[in-house]
Amino acid sequence: MDKLRIVGGTPLNGEIRISGAKNSALPILACTLLGDTPSTVQNLPHLHDITTMIELFGCMGIQPIIDEKLSLEVDANTIKTLVAPYDLVKTMRASILVLGPMLARFGKAEVALPGGCAIGSRPVDLHVRGLQAMGANIKIEDGYIKAEIPSAGLHGTTFMFDTVSVTGTENLIMAAALAKGKTILQNAAKEPEVIDLANMINQMGGHVTGMGTDTITIEGVGHLQGTTFSVMADRIETGTYLVAAAITGGKVKLKDTDPSILEAVLIKLQEAGANIDTGRNWIALDMKGNKPKAVNIRTAPYPAFPTDMQAQFIALNSVAEGIGKVTETIFENRFMHVYELNRMGAQILIEGNTAIVKGVDSLKGAPVMATDLRASASLVLAGLVAQGETLIDRIYHIDRGYQCIEEKLQLLGAKIKRIAG
Ligand code: UD1
Repeated sequence: MDKLRIVGGTPLNGEIRISGAKNSALPILACTLLGDTPSTVQNLPHLHDITTMIELFGCMGIQPIIDEKLSLEVDANTIKTLVAPYDLVKTMRASILVLGPMLARFGKAEVALPGGCAIGSRPVDLHVRGLQAMGANIKIEDGYIKAEIPSAGLHGTTFMFDTVSVTGTENLIMAAALAKGKTILQNAAKEPEVIDLANMINQMGGHVTGMGTDTITIEGVGHLQGTTFSVMADRIETGTYLVAAAITGGKVKLKDTDPSILEAVLIKLQEAGANIDTGRNWIALDMKGNKPKAVNIRTAPYPAFPTDMQAQFIALNSVAEGIGKVTETIFENRFMHVYELNRMGAQILIEGNTAIVKGVDSLKGAPVMATDLRASASLVLAGLVAQGETLIDRIYHIDRGYQCIEEKLQLLGAKIKRIAG
């Protein structure tokens, strides 16, 4: 198993490019299943989760074509099997995103239940209930969601999400795009990735309105055509590199990103003492060599502070001046990184769903273990500022969501190396 070796203490300095968003690329790829003709997806990040989605397509009989610029052409007409098997779904929960499009376009879908994961139980009941409200016949059998549409097809409905669910909203938008009549999704996710997906569907000839608000309306159409679509920038990758600069007292410029989708994170970085400058597609951060100040965080659905940036800000607070309280409201059990950070000398106490982080003068490098995607990012950040060497094990978690992390950090001057295991 590969490891990352980091020698901390260098303030980051330089410019890098931000990749396409994982959390947009996955629904966009699933959406290609809806088109009668092939679609091409551009600006795909080179990540393990994307490879898993391509493998999933392969299991279904679809062989996407990759060009030299890593654009992917998907022709859903070659589909042979309407099954997403457990072996793949268990490695990537977002595989559930094929459920809605497979069902709406091909009339049938069997998708393994994702099961538990490192950050909590993460059920998919809302996806299932929403599709049932559109008329799908669904049974849960042998660990699979087995779904079929009635002979009259899926029909529009009004569905209220009990809890805001990002992939739940995306699944139902995709199914509703080909259903008969109008679907209204209430308490829908407002995340920018949902907007990206709705834009793709509209480009394919669909009718989605209200994306970016909590009420999304979808007028079903008979057919959707393939299209060419470029995935939006990754706001979580952007935020992670901004924290990397802030935690090391450095100065970076991130290109090909979008400051307008990161407001909550930028506000907290400014509160932590960062000077931030933005342009249409870039963000620059300068700590002027200062130590960060502790900030209080409460995660919540977009546009509030994202849960996917919580671990990185705990790392930031762990070396900040003062005490920062970080409350996680989206996922249970999303504090696994805290125990590893404490092994590096951090002083973090967990009380219920709040981590109370008392900033220390310095962290000390140590062997640590990555437990999930964003938790591993926080260990990299801690390693960048810690005295001495940090060795991070199980970095396959990082490769799920950060394209070429060691190359990008090296470009910014970090002492980081991948050790093949
Ligand atoms: C997506 C993101 C993930 C991010 C999360 C929250 C992708 C591929 N992943 O995950 O990076 O951390 O949003 O911003 O986009 N819930 C239910 N029933 C359901 C579905 C969800 O109770 O059927 C609950 C979950 O347990 C959780 C909350 O809703 O407490 C939010 O989860 P959800 O938004 O669905 O997360 P994902 O879409 O899986």
